Amino acid sequence: MTGAASRAAPVRGAVGAPHTRVDGRDKVTGAARYAAEIPFAELAHGWLVLSTIARGRVRSLDTAPVLRMPGVLTVLHHGNAPRVDNDYMTLLGVPPDPTVALFQRDRVPYLGWPVAVVVAETSEQAREAAEALVVHYERQPHDVEFSGSRPDTYPLDTYEPAVVEKGDLAAQLAASAVLVDAEYTTPEEHPHPMEPHAATARWDGGRLEVVDSNQGTANVASELAKLFSLDASAVRVRSEHVGGGFGSKEHVRAHQVAAAMAAAVLRRPVRVVLTRRQMFSLVGYRSPTVQRVRLGADADGRLRVLEHRSLNLTSSMHDWVEPCTQGARVMYDADAHHTSHRVVRLDVPTPTWMRAPGEAPGSFALESALDELAEKCGLDPIELRVRNEPRVGPVSGLPFSPRRLLACLREGERRFGWADRDPRPCLRRDGRWLLGTGMAAASFPAMAVPATAAVTAEADGGFTVRVNAADIGTGARTALTLIAADALRASPGRVHVRLGDSDFGQAGPAGASMGTRSWGWAVTVAAGELRERLASGAVVPPEGITVRSDTAEAVRAIARTERHAFGAQFAEVAVDVGTGEVRVRRMLGVFAAGRIVNPLTARNQLVGGMTWAISMALHEEAVRDRATGGLVGADLAGYHFAAHADVPLIEVDWVDDPDPDDPVGIKGIGEIGIVGAVAAIANAVWHATGVRHRQLPIRPDRVLLAGATDA
Ligand code: MOS
Repeated sequence: MTGAASRAAPVRGAVGAPHTRVDGRDKVTGAARYAAEIPFAELAHGWLVLSTIARGRVRSLDTAPVLRMPGVLTVLHHGNAPRVDNDYMTLLGVPPDPTVALFQRDRVPYLGWPVAVVVAETSEQAREAAEALVVHYERQPHDVEFSGSRPDTYPLDTYEPAVVEKGDLAAQLAASAVLVDAEYTTPEEHPHPMEPHAATARWDGGRLEVVDSNQGTANVASELAKLFSLDASAVRVRSEHVGGGFGSKEHVRAHQVAAAMAAAVLRRPVRVVLTRRQMFSLVGYRSPTVQRVRLGADADGRLRVLEHRSLNLTSSMHDWVEPCTQGARVMYDADAHHTSHRVVRLDVPTPTWMRAPGEAPGSFALESALDELAEKCGLDPIELRVRNEPRVGPVSGLPFSPRRLLACLREGERRFGWADRDPRPCLRRDGRWLLGTGMAAASFPAMAVPATAAVTAEADGGFTVRVNAADIGTGARTALTLIAADALRASPGRVHVRLGDSDFGQAGPAGASMGTRSWGWAVTVAAGELRERLASGAVVPPEGITVRSDTAEAVRAIARTERHAFGAQFAEVAVDVGTGEVRVRRMLGVFAAGRIVNPLTARNQLVGGMTWAISMALHEEAVRDRATGGLVGADLAGYHFAAHADVPLIEVDWVDDPDPDDPVGIKGIGEIGIVGAVAAIANAVWHATGVRHRQLPIRPDRVLLAGATDA
C-alpha cells in the first residue's frame, strides 16, 4: 500500500496499536521460503554421520563402498576434510563450541558427534549412503552421570562472576527466626524449534554465501569467516524467514560448516539439513541443574539470608554455565547474599543458551523457596515479596531503571482473584481433582547492543528499511515496521522492512530478549534523520534518499542501572491424586516490560513463554542412558512437551513501563514469559496437594508417589 493515497493520510501512533504480521500472508500461503526451500542450480545434498560411541576415537571409515553408491559425490571426514580454525571469539562474547571444528580430529567426545558428511546428488541418496557408512571406533569408558554429589565440580565465571558473596552467612543464618533449606533439580531440556537447522553454502569467486536458518546472520557470518580464515567481507549469510530458534540458532553449528566444506571441495552449492534426532546432539540444549537455596528470615519475612548455589554440566571440551542465580542477584536483598555457579565436565554435548538461560530454571528454585518461606512465616506469598522489595540492586547497589514489580503483583492479585484465596493446602476439591493456586515473581535483563540500519525514501513514496535483524517467529519484522512508520510519521503500509542479510551490516541477534529493542533503536535514529531531511524539502531522486545509523555510541552511553523487565505469574492447577495427573487450568501473567510495540505479537510471545513453562513444569525431560551415554527417546515422541490439550486459558497483560533510556521505550519481551511461571505452577501443586515438588518435571509418577497430605 504505497503511493499517493496513503501519503495523503499519514498515520501516527503505529507503535502500541495491534497490527497483524506483515509477513503473515506470505507465511500461511507458503510464499515465505525457509532456508531448505530456496532453490539452487547444481545443488548437492550433504547428510551428517554421527558417532555411535560416547567417548573414544575414530579408527577408520569404510568409505569405498559408500562412494560407489548411486549419486554419491564425496565423503568428508577427519582424514580428508579442509582445515578450519576454531580458536576465535564469537560476537556473542563466548568462544565457539569446538564441535564446529568439524572433522579436524579423530577424537570422539560424546555420542552424536559428527564424524563424516556424505554428499550426493539428492538428499535421499545422501541419507541412504550416510546410513550405510561403516565407522570403526576405538571405544573408551565414558562418564555421563550428573548429580549434586559430584566431587569434580568447579566454579565458572561467565558474563557474570561465578561467585558473589555479601555479608556473613553463618551469622545471619544463626540470627534467622525462619529457615528454608531445599534442593531443587531440573532436567536436561531441548529447544527444538519447528524448523530444523538447515543451510546451503556456495562459494562464488572466493566469497562464501550461505542461506541459513539462524537467529542473527552477523554472528553466523563472523564465525564462518573466522573458521575458514576469510575476511569478514568475504562471507555473506542470509536468513530471511526462520521457524524458531529458542537459543539453538545463535551460533554456527555443524551443518553450516559441513555445507561450506563440501561446497568448497565439490565446487557447487551444498545443502545440509539436520534431522530431529541429529538436533538432540548438535544444536545445544539446556543443562540439567541441581540448585540449593537457603533462605533465612525474621518472623515477619524480612530476608537475612539469600543463598542460591547452582550446578550444571558441560562437555569435556568446552565450558558452559547455565547462570541460574542471575535472578537472585536482582530480585531480593538479604544481609547475607551468597550466589554461585559451578559446573562439572561430562562426556556429553555442550549445552547452550535456551530460552531464558539461567532465569528459567533459576526462578523455579528461588520462587519455589520463597513460597516455602511464605508458608513457614504464615505470610501471603505476595506480601512476602512486597516486604522484600529492594530499593537498589541487591548485589550491584545500582538504582533500578523502573522496577515495576509491585505494580505487576498488585494488578495480578486483582485480576486473578487472589484476595479470596485460602492459603491452606489440600482444601479444594472438584470431583477427583484437588485444586490449588500459586504465584511467583519474575525478572529478565533488559539489554541493548549496537546495531546499524539504513532507511531509504523511495521515489514512489514508500520507505525501505534495511537492518540485519532476525524474525524467528516473534513478529520482529512487524514490530520494526511499526517503529519505522512512527519515526517516519508514515503509515506502516508504506514501510518495507528487509532483514536477515549480513550484507546489511552489523546487528545483534534475536537473543537475550534484546533484538527488537536494539534493531528498533537503529531504525528509529535513521528514520528520524530521514524524516528531517524530507521535512526540510529534500526532493527524492529516482535512486531514493538513504540515511544510515549506527547506535554503537548511544548504546555504550546508556546509564549504568539495574535494567530489567519484571513480571508476576499466577497459575491454577488441578491434581488427580488417583492418577497423578496435573492439569493447569488457567494462568495469568502481568508484566512490566517496557513499551509494548505490537500488542498482538507481544501477547503471542508472552503466552508462548508461559506455555513453555507448563511444558517445563510438567512434561519436558531428556533422559541420558548411562550405558550408551546417549539420550533415551531422542525424538519428539520420546521427548514430551505441552501440546494443545495441555494448554488452558492463558491471560497476559502488562503495566505501563517505558524504558526512559530507549528512544522507543522498549525493554524486551522475548523470554520473561517463561520466568517464574514454572514456580507458580509448582506452588499451585503444593497448594492443591500439600506436597512440595522440587524436582522437575512434576510427572504423574512423582505426584502419585508423593501423594497428598490430606490422605
Ligand atoms: Mo535466546 S536463549 O536469548 O537465543
